[in-house]
Amino acid sequence: MRRKLAAGNWKMNGLRTDLAELEALAATFAAPKVDILLCPPATLLAPAAACSGPIAIGAQDCHAQDSGAHTGDVSAPMIKDAGANAVILGHSERRTDHGESSDAVRAKAVAAQAAGLTTVICLGESFKQREAANTLDIIGGQLSTSVPDGSTGENLVIAYEPIWAIGTGLVPNLDQIGEVHDFIRTRIERRFGAGVGRSVRLLYGGSVKPDNAADIFGVSNVDGALVGGASLKCADFSQIINALE
Ligand code: G3P
Repeated sequence: MRRKLAAGNWKMNGLRTDLAELEALAATFAAPKVDILLCPPATLLAPAAACSGPIAIGAQDCHAQDSGAHTGDVSAPMIKDAGANAVILGHSERRTDHGESSDAVRAKAVAAQAAGLTTVICLGESFKQREAANTLDIIGGQLSTSVPDGSTGENLVIAYEPIWAIGTGLVPNLDQIGEVHDFIRTRIERRFGAGVGRSVRLLYGGSVKPDNAADIFGVSNVDGALVGGASLKCADFSQIINALE
Protein backbone atom coordinates (compact mmCIF):
# COMPACT_ATOMS: atom_id res chain seq x y z
CA MET A 1 0.00 0.00 0.00
CA ARG A 2 2.69 2.54 0.88
CA ARG A 3 5.17 2.93 -1.97
CA LYS A 4 8.73 2.70 -0.66
CA LEU A 5 10.87 5.84 -0.84
CA ALA A 6 14.63 6.20 -1.09
CA ALA A 7 15.59 9.82 -0.45
CA GLY A 8 19.05 11.34 -0.70
CA ASN A 9 20.16 14.50 1.04
CA TRP A 10 23.30 15.98 -0.48
CA LYS A 11 23.45 18.67 2.24
CA MET A 12 26.05 21.36 1.32
CA ASN A 13 27.76 19.14 -1.23
CA GLY A 14 27.55 19.22 -4.99
CA LEU A 15 28.78 21.26 -7.94
CA ARG A 16 27.40 21.07 -11.47
CA THR A 17 29.93 18.37 -12.31
CA ASP A 18 28.38 16.16 -9.62
CA LEU A 19 25.14 16.03 -11.60
CA ALA A 20 26.87 13.19 -13.45
CA GLU A 21 26.05 11.07 -10.37
CA LEU A 22 22.37 11.97 -10.71
CA GLU A 23 22.41 11.23 -14.43
CA ALA A 24 23.98 7.84 -13.72
CA LEU A 25 21.30 7.15 -11.11
CA ALA A 26 18.55 8.12 -13.56
CA ALA A 27 20.02 5.75 -16.13
CA THR A 28 20.34 2.91 -13.60
CA PHE A 29 16.75 3.29 -12.38
CA ALA A 30 14.95 4.17 -15.59
CA ALA A 31 11.83 2.35 -14.33
CA PRO A 32 12.23 2.26 -10.55
CA LYS A 33 10.10 -0.04 -8.41
CA VAL A 34 10.32 2.46 -5.54
CA ASP A 35 10.12 6.25 -5.41
CA ILE A 36 13.50 7.96 -5.51
CA LEU A 37 14.03 11.53 -4.34
CA LEU A 38 17.28 13.45 -4.45
CA CYS A 39 17.75 16.73 -2.58
CA PRO A 40 20.77 18.68 -3.86
CA PRO A 41 21.74 22.17 -2.67
CA ALA A 42 19.51 25.02 -3.91
CA THR A 43 22.02 26.04 -6.58
CA LEU A 44 21.50 22.70 -8.34
CA LEU A 45 17.72 22.40 -8.12
CA ALA A 46 16.92 23.60 -11.64
CA PRO A 47 19.73 21.77 -13.46
CA ALA A 48 19.03 18.64 -11.43
CA ALA A 49 15.34 18.76 -12.31
CA ALA A 50 16.31 19.05 -15.97
CA CYS A 51 18.30 15.80 -15.99
CA SER A 52 16.71 13.66 -13.27
CA GLY A 53 14.39 11.51 -15.40
CA PRO A 54 12.20 9.42 -13.06
CA ILE A 55 13.99 10.68 -9.96
CA ALA A 56 12.16 13.41 -8.07
CA ILE A 57 14.08 16.47 -6.93
CA GLY A 58 13.67 18.21 -3.59
CA ALA A 59 15.14 21.14 -1.69
CA GLN A 60 16.64 21.03 1.80
CA ASP A 61 14.77 23.98 3.35
CA CYS A 62 12.37 26.79 2.45
CA HIS A 63 11.13 30.05 3.95
CA ALA A 64 7.68 30.24 5.54
CA GLN A 65 6.68 33.17 3.31
CA ASP A 66 6.22 33.07 -0.44
CA SER A 67 8.26 36.21 -1.22
CA GLY A 68 9.62 39.34 0.37
CA ALA A 69 12.63 40.97 2.01
CA HIS A 70 14.46 37.88 3.26
CA THR A 71 17.99 38.02 1.96
CA GLY A 72 19.47 34.66 1.18
CA ASP A 73 16.25 32.68 1.63
CA VAL A 74 14.36 30.63 -0.91
CA SER A 75 10.57 30.23 -0.87
CA ALA A 76 8.45 27.17 -1.54
CA PRO A 77 6.96 28.57 -4.79
CA MET A 78 10.51 29.27 -6.01
CA ILE A 79 11.46 25.65 -5.30
CA LYS A 80 8.42 24.45 -7.20
CA ASP A 81 9.26 26.85 -10.04
CA ALA A 82 12.77 25.37 -10.24
CA GLY A 83 11.22 21.99 -11.06
CA ALA A 84 11.39 20.37 -7.62
CA ASN A 85 8.41 18.79 -5.91
CA ALA A 86 9.59 18.15 -2.36
CA VAL A 87 11.46 19.81 0.48
CA ILE A 88 13.23 18.51 3.58
CA LEU A 89 12.24 20.50 6.67
CA GLY A 90 13.40 20.46 10.27
CA HIS A 91 16.62 18.56 9.68
CA SER A 92 18.59 18.50 12.94
CA GLU A 93 21.41 20.41 11.24
CA ARG A 94 18.99 23.27 10.60
CA ARG A 95 17.45 22.98 14.05
CA THR A 96 20.99 23.26 15.49
CA ASP A 97 22.78 25.58 13.04
CA HIS A 98 19.85 27.97 12.51
CA GLY A 99 17.94 27.56 15.76
CA GLU A 100 14.82 26.30 13.99
CA SER A 101 12.06 25.45 16.44
CA SER A 102 9.29 22.98 15.72
CA ASP A 103 6.92 25.95 15.39
CA ALA A 104 9.15 27.40 12.67
CA VAL A 105 9.29 24.02 10.94
CA ARG A 106 5.49 23.81 10.94
CA ALA A 107 5.18 27.30 9.43
CA LYS A 108 7.56 26.29 6.65
CA ALA A 109 5.66 23.06 6.12
CA VAL A 110 2.36 24.93 5.75
CA ALA A 111 3.93 27.13 3.05
CA ALA A 112 5.53 24.17 1.30
CA GLN A 113 2.36 22.08 1.25
CA ALA A 114 0.38 25.09 -0.03
CA ALA A 115 2.90 25.39 -2.88
CA GLY A 116 2.34 21.76 -3.80
CA LEU A 117 5.55 20.37 -2.36
CA THR A 118 5.84 17.11 -0.44
CA THR A 119 7.34 17.89 2.96
CA VAL A 120 9.91 15.51 4.42
CA ILE A 121 9.79 16.51 8.07
CA CYS A 122 12.73 15.34 10.21
CA LEU A 123 12.56 14.35 13.88
CA GLY A 124 15.34 13.08 16.11
CA GLU A 125 16.71 12.88 19.62
CA SER A 126 20.23 13.61 20.87
CA PHE A 127 22.35 10.90 22.45
CA LYS A 128 21.88 12.52 25.84
CA GLN A 129 18.11 12.43 25.42
CA ARG A 130 18.21 8.76 24.43
CA GLU A 131 20.43 7.90 27.39
CA ALA A 132 17.96 9.65 29.66
CA ALA A 133 15.16 7.47 28.18
CA ASN A 134 13.45 10.57 26.76
CA THR A 135 13.44 9.53 23.10
CA LEU A 136 9.70 9.01 22.69
CA ASP A 137 8.85 12.22 24.56
CA ILE A 138 11.19 14.21 22.33
CA ILE A 139 9.94 12.59 19.13
CA GLY A 140 6.30 12.97 20.22
CA GLY A 141 6.78 16.67 20.95
CA GLN A 142 8.58 17.38 17.67
CA LEU A 143 5.98 15.39 15.76
CA SER A 144 2.92 17.11 17.16
CA THR A 145 4.35 20.63 16.74
CA SER A 146 6.29 20.31 13.47
CA VAL A 147 3.62 18.58 11.37
CA PRO A 148 0.78 20.81 10.10
CA ASP A 149 -2.90 19.91 10.34
CA GLY A 150 -3.38 19.85 6.56
CA SER A 151 -0.97 16.96 6.06
CA THR A 152 -1.91 13.98 3.91
CA GLY A 153 -0.30 10.77 2.72
CA GLU A 154 0.76 12.64 -0.43
CA ASN A 155 2.26 15.79 1.04
CA LEU A 156 3.84 14.41 4.20
CA VAL A 157 6.79 12.10 4.74
CA ILE A 158 8.36 11.79 8.18
CA ALA A 159 12.04 10.99 8.65
CA TYR A 160 13.26 9.67 11.98
CA GLU A 161 16.91 10.70 12.22
CA PRO A 162 18.57 10.23 15.62
CA ILE A 163 21.05 13.12 15.82
CA TRP A 164 23.78 10.87 17.19
CA ALA A 165 23.49 8.54 14.18
CA ILE A 166 23.97 11.23 11.53
CA GLY A 167 27.35 10.97 9.85
CA THR A 168 28.82 8.97 12.72
CA GLY A 169 28.55 5.36 11.57
CA LEU A 170 26.47 4.68 14.70
CA VAL A 171 23.01 3.23 14.12
CA PRO A 172 20.31 2.40 16.67
CA ASN A 173 19.60 -1.31 16.92
CA LEU A 174 16.65 -2.65 14.93
CA ASP A 175 14.40 -2.81 18.00
CA GLN A 176 15.09 0.84 18.75
CA ILE A 177 14.34 1.84 15.16
CA GLY A 178 11.13 -0.22 15.23
CA GLU A 179 10.02 1.25 18.54
CA VAL A 180 10.25 4.82 17.26
CA HIS A 181 8.66 4.08 13.89
CA ASP A 182 5.75 2.21 15.51
CA PHE A 183 5.33 5.12 17.92
CA ILE A 184 5.22 7.68 15.09
CA ARG A 185 2.72 5.53 13.15
CA THR A 186 0.43 5.23 16.16
CA ARG A 187 0.58 8.96 16.82
CA ILE A 188 -0.21 10.00 13.25
CA GLU A 189 -3.05 7.46 13.01
CA ARG A 190 -4.49 8.89 16.19
CA ARG A 191 -4.17 12.47 14.94
CA PHE A 192 -5.12 12.12 11.28
CA GLY A 193 -7.23 8.97 11.30
CA ALA A 194 -6.33 5.53 10.03
CA GLY A 195 -6.58 6.41 6.32
CA VAL A 196 -4.06 9.25 6.31
CA GLY A 197 -2.08 7.82 9.23
CA ARG A 198 -1.41 4.58 7.40
CA SER A 199 -0.53 6.26 4.10
CA VAL A 200 2.20 8.60 5.39
CA ARG A 201 5.64 7.20 4.66
CA LEU A 202 8.15 6.93 7.50
CA LEU A 203 11.86 6.99 6.67
CA TYR A 204 14.82 6.11 8.81
CA GLY A 205 17.93 8.33 8.47
CA GLY A 206 21.37 8.21 10.08
CA SER A 207 24.39 6.30 8.72
CA VAL A 208 22.36 4.20 6.28
CA LYS A 209 24.90 2.41 4.09
CA PRO A 210 24.82 -0.39 1.50
CA ASP A 211 25.77 -2.95 4.17
CA ASN A 212 23.06 -2.11 6.73
CA ALA A 213 20.19 -0.96 4.48
CA ALA A 214 18.48 -4.34 4.01
CA ASP A 215 18.28 -4.99 7.76
CA ILE A 216 16.88 -1.53 8.42
CA PHE A 217 14.31 -1.91 5.62
CA GLY A 218 13.07 -5.10 7.27
CA VAL A 219 11.91 -3.19 10.36
CA SER A 220 8.18 -2.62 10.77
CA ASN A 221 6.90 0.77 9.63
CA VAL A 222 10.19 1.66 7.92
CA ASP A 223 9.11 2.68 4.41
CA GLY A 224 12.54 3.74 3.20
CA ALA A 225 15.50 5.89 4.12
CA LEU A 226 16.77 9.45 4.11
CA VAL A 227 20.41 9.00 3.18
CA GLY A 228 23.19 11.57 3.57
CA GLY A 229 26.77 10.61 2.73
CA ALA A 230 25.90 7.42 0.87
CA SER A 231 23.60 9.32 -1.52
CA LEU A 232 26.45 11.34 -3.01
CA LYS A 233 27.70 8.55 -5.25
CA CYS A 234 25.50 6.60 -7.62
CA ALA A 235 27.38 3.38 -6.80
CA ASP A 236 26.50 3.55 -3.08
CA PHE A 237 22.99 4.97 -3.38
CA SER A 238 22.11 2.36 -6.03
CA GLN A 239 22.89 -0.46 -3.62
CA ILE A 240 20.64 1.10 -0.99
CA ILE A 241 17.84 1.53 -3.53
CA ASN A 242 18.29 -2.08 -4.63
CA ALA A 243 17.92 -3.19 -1.01
CA LEU A 244 14.61 -1.32 -0.84
CA GLU A 245 13.19 -2.62 -4.14
O1 G3P B 1 19.38 13.66 6.07
C1 G3P B 1 20.23 12.56 6.01
C2 G3P B 1 21.19 12.51 7.10
O2 G3P B 1 21.10 13.41 8.11
C3 G3P B 1 21.87 11.25 7.38
O3 G3P B 1 23.17 11.48 7.02
O4 G3P B 1 25.39 10.86 6.26
O5 G3P B 1 24.42 9.78 8.29
O6 G3P B 1 23.53 9.22 6.05
P1 G3P B 1 24.19 10.26 6.90
